[in-house]
Amino acid sequence: MPPVYRLRMHAITISEPGGPKVLRWTEQPDPQPGPGEVVLDVAATAVNRADLLQRQGNYAPPPGVTDVPGLECSGRVAALGDGVEGLTVGDEVCALLAGGGYATKVAVPAGQVMPVPSNVDLVTAAGLPEVACTVWSNVVMTAGLKAGETLLVHGGASGIGTHAIQVAKALGARVAVTAGSAERLARCAELGADVLINYREQDFAEELKSAADVILDNMGAKYLPRNIDALARLGRLVVIGMQGGVKGELNIGKLLAKSGTVTATSLRYRPVDEKAAICAEVATRLWPLVEAGKVKPIIHEVLPVERAADAHTKLEEGGVLGKLVLAMPS
Ligand SMILES: NC(=O)c1ccc[n+]([C@@H]2O[C@H](COP(=O)([O-])OP(=O)(O)OC[C@H]3O[C@@H](n4cnc5c(N)ncnc54)[C@H](OP(=O)(O)O)[C@@H]3O)[C@@H](O)[C@H]2O)c1
Repeated sequence: MPPVYRLRMHAITISEPGGPKVLRWTEQPDPQPGPGEVVLDVAATAVNRADLLQRQGNYAPPPGVTDVPGLECSGRVAALGDGVEGLTVGDEVCALLAGGGYATKVAVPAGQVMPVPSNVDLVTAAGLPEVACTVWSNVVMTAGLKAGETLLVHGGASGIGTHAIQVAKALGARVAVTAGSAERLARCAELGADVLINYREQDFAEELKSAADVILDNMGAKYLPRNIDALARLGRLVVIGMQGGVKGELNIGKLLAKSGTVTATSLRYRPVDEKAAICAEVATRLWPLVEAGKVKPIIHEVLPVERAADAHTKLEEGGVLGKLVLAMPS
């Protein structure tokens, strides 16, 4: 009888905090599914700005979560833990992860596993869970964006931004974006953005004149005063990134005069049941928009996972439009 070779799990690990070169492709123990979890054979994962911070030692995984990076993946169900219903070994799925996506196998709570939209291939689907869950949970579930309202998306050409533009347009909203070049703004316009603001040359608060009903903000402290200025009456500012620092000054008088709301959320640190509720809404309300062609995955490039360091360098250098996907060896 010929010998049976079993491929052990491989993953990109962070050898020490530092630049892209600290990412190493190493053999790891296979994950086992705990109660309520499934193990996936990963087809692909995608790069998020949070992965760069984790690699630098500035964004630790939540307690109990693997330190292998990767907040999303697509793949096939390989094993079911106790109590998992509605999933079968072999199902093609995508998943929102708290970590571990840069690996050939990952364990994930079953509630964070979603079907792959019928018109999206398995590798491309790896670039959907993080943008879909972030945008839907913040713009729709938290801020309650309605048809006819104006959404301001900072970083409109980012992974999050390119998705947010399309979701807001599909919901009947008007969309304003900021981006760092005319080329990137032109791409946002192709995706449906109505108001284009080059943040290097224009002041978004002056351009918008208190017209933003909802703001999806990646900058944090640096933009806080001008975001309040840009808000409409009853406006909702949702901060999801701190690219411009963590400590800002909030003019409560201005916020009060507008009856405005300021919220900040982190998808990765939400409890499992909150993530499951978000994934369930994404699958039932957002995937139909994807399947209708109204919201498309925007993939800048697909790279083999062994080139994760190159992918991190590309995202760090800027110029990536949409998502960078990392495909696992077949
Ligand atoms: N809280 C959460 O749960 C959560 C989840 C996912 C992502 N995020 C955050 O969402 C943001 C986008 O994530 P991503 O993975 O899509 O990142 P990404 O693709 O790397 O995008 C970063 C974006 O920041 C933009 N930017 C840089 N300086 C700016 C400025 N002064 N004004 C406006 N935009 C500026 C860049 O615009 P140009 O390239 O046009 O210059 C770029 O599009 C990140 O801050 C990330 O940490 C948060």
